Amino acid sequence: VAQPPPMSSGDPSLEDHYQELLARETRHWGDERPDPQYPQLWDDPRVFELAVGDAYRHLLDRVAGHARVLELGCGDGDLAVELAARGARVTGVDISPERILRARVHAAGSSASFEIADLNTAEFAPESFECVVAHSALHHVYNLDHALAAARRALVPGGTIVVNDFIGAGWFEKVAYALGYAVLPTLQPYRTKWSLRRRLGPFLASERQKRLAVDRGGSDGLHAHSPFEGISQYSIVEKVAACFEVTERFTYCPYWYHMVPKLRVSPAFRHALLAGFRGMDARLNRGGITRGSYVFIEARKPSP
Ligand SMILES: C[S@@+](CC[C@H](N)C(=O)[O-])C[C@H]1O[C@@H](n2cnc3c(N)ncnc32)[C@H](O)[C@@H]1O
Repeated sequence: VAQPPPMSSGDPSLEDHYQELLARETRHWGDERPDPQYPQLWDDPRVFELAVGDAYRHLLDRVAGHARVLELGCGDGDLAVELAARGARVTGVDISPERILRARVHAAGSSASFEIADLNTAEFAPESFECVVAHSALHHVYNLDHALAAARRALVPGGTIVVNDFIGAGWFEKVAYALGYAVLPTLQPYRTKWSLRRRLGPFLASERQKRLAVDRGGSDGLHAHSPFEGISQYSIVEKVAACFEVTERFTYCPYWYHMVPKLRVSPAFRHALLAGFRGMDARLNRGGITRGSYVFIEARKPSP
């Protein structure tokens, strides 16, 4: 992985600000651990299966047939190891040295290999991969244009990119979610939730507001520990379509599902809640009445 110098704004104080944000983002991912008071969809295997299992398997099936795979934002290497077990030669890249270290340990004995790289600036060997995959990674990348152009250069002509990413929700849906989270019994006690009101700004901020904050050297609307959280979430769909020929796209997992693991209810009730709503939500989604908080995109680099 060749790393050119970091993007330059020409303004040294803005450049320092950007580098400080990126360093904070990198530390955040190195330190990230499950929080028992604030569990996520992927912390309980049954919740994961009910909420996103079908889409994850779909992604595995679409990527696994390719010989050489580049994974962007590979984290601890779970997907890369799974793909390697299915016969792909996977190169995973991630900005966090701790995560790359964990991925290497996790992948010991498999054909997957890992490198530290910042997707805002990284370049890869040209036309070296039949497939590029990004799982829940691109919404953290400020310079998505660069990351997608680099992915395109790394693909052989006719190669495939598979993106599965968090695209969040609109303002009204987020307000409804925040109200629901405030009043419903959750694993986080009400006292702790009250202190979370300071995080409401970043939670409700749009991608545009976050970008303005970064570009102006401020931090309004940015997550304190993960300043690039959601910096690209709304533009993923349009930017992938601008760079590649989209062959399949759908959204899934309604935004409110993210609340389910956090509710103070029995696991059986939690699973029954998701199982009960899943079919209806899928129909509403297919009918275009609702949209999910994740998008699956498969696209091709056109052959010359
Ligand atoms: C939500 S995690 C997903 C990890 C993994 N793909 C998975 O699905 O488990 C986001 C990952 O993107 C990585 N990341 C964030 N910003 C990045 C950047 N600028 N360049 C490379 N990786 C980045 C983080 O370190 C983290 O591992």
